[in-house]
Amino acid sequence: MSGIPHEPYEPKTGFEKWLHARLPIVALAYDTLMIPTPKNLNWMWIWGIVLAFCLVLQIATGVALVMHYTPHVDLAFASVEHIMRDVNGGWLLRYAHANGASLFFIAVYAHIFRSLYYGSYKAPREVTWIIGILIYLAMMATAFMGYVLPWGQMSFWGATVITNLFSALPLVGDPIVTWLWGGFSVDNPTLNRFFSLHYLLPFVIAALVVVHIWAFHHTGNNNPTGVEVRRGSLEEAKRDTVPFWPYYVIKDLFALAVVLLLFVALVFFMPNYLGHPDNYIEANPLATPAHIVPEWYFLPFYAILRAITFDILFIDSKLGGVLAMFGAILVMALAPWLDTSRVRSGRYRPQFKWWFWLLVVDFLVLMWCGAQAPEGLVPTISLLGTIYWFAYFLVILPVLGLVEKPLPQPATVEEDFNAHIAKKTGAAATPAE
Ligand code: HEM
Repeated sequence: MSGIPHEPYEPKTGFEKWLHARLPIVALAYDTLMIPTPKNLNWMWIWGIVLAFCLVLQIATGVALVMHYTPHVDLAFASVEHIMRDVNGGWLLRYAHANGASLFFIAVYAHIFRSLYYGSYKAPREVTWIIGILIYLAMMATAFMGYVLPWGQMSFWGATVITNLFSALPLVGDPIVTWLWGGFSVDNPTLNRFFSLHYLLPFVIAALVVVHIWAFHHTGNNNPTGVEVRRGSLEEAKRDTVPFWPYYVIKDLFALAVVLLLFVALVFFMPNYLGHPDNYIEANPLATPAHIVPEWYFLPFYAILRAITFDILFIDSKLGGVLAMFGAILVMALAPWLDTSRVRSGRYRPQFKWWFWLLVVDFLVLMWCGAQAPEGLVPTISLLGTIYWFAYFLVILPVLGLVEKPLPQPATVEEDFNAHIAKKTGAAATPAE
């Protein structure tokens, strides 16, 4: 499975040999679990496992919630209250599911920015990256539709604002919106189809995750140096890697336990902290809330949507905003081809580091802008933030690769690992045998 040499699975017992000749499923599990993994991975490599946990958590709690939820405009809000008050443990299921979505997005943003810093998107991992972007898009669609289901004020008005964006498309815009709604406003058919798709999409995400993992198992993991693991011989590969089991399984589980401690604190002590109070008011198509604010994880892209307040040639401001919002994700997908640097990891790119951290700040500033009313300086800051977002991918990444003088990189993963151990312990590095 992996391109990195490792010891193959040998069936031992009679039954194992019998099964292996017919269905090499144990070999598949063995290759997956024992996959050679760079031995210098740092704590930023834990988010994949947190993401996998979130997916399982969301599906498990979601399936249980559905047993008591009713996707009908007259009953949805009451059915959620019923879950909260009458169903045994219903409040916990709901709070775990709602905050689980937030944990999912915290993890995905950490995972994406990790990939951007260490150049994990660069060849030969472009397919892992592109599938990641597809997962991210599917996550956004799922979260958006899930938020509509409780049929509160923010559910209704958020759905109205976001679906209306499609009306910005020339000619086909209005028919598309009517088609999405299944009528002439957000109503029962809309709630029903969102419910159906909200249930379906996590399984699509699960399938994409399998392909995502398959892709990076095939290329091997990136690591903080960005230097590839040696593959010339089994001996060499063994000096750069450790098997995933038990080393990274234990490390990942420890990290997951720490993350879950914080998550549980959120669920039990401040379960509504990340939510909006207006969503505890039943949807009312006749009363628009003063501010329609999306969930925190959509805010940076919401700010980009609102940043375009002027027409650009024949594109009106509304269409411009929609194009900018989708473009902001598309441009990220193109990073493997826009980044011209031969050095993969940001660790050895002295100028890149500054631009990268500015991108992180930019993302947070945009998030802040998305939560504000579009008044005063907010539109200007949003516009500047949007310009930087695009400039990072379209100008800085291509140009920097050509002009930057990178720092020396270690020759091997083993060298980096030994240097790290020596620094930690103050002892001399173990000499390579
Ligand atoms: C449900 C969502 C996802 C799951 C379960 C998942 C899982 C994983 C896992 C387990 C790894 C290896 C270990 C690690 O890096 O933590 C990984 C690596 C990677 N992921 Fe994801 N991922 C998800 C979403 C994404 C997204 C949205 C992107 C980017 C847009 C992405 C990009 C990458 C890249 C580039 C790597 C390669 C890093 C390397 O080779 O070490 N992933 N993913």
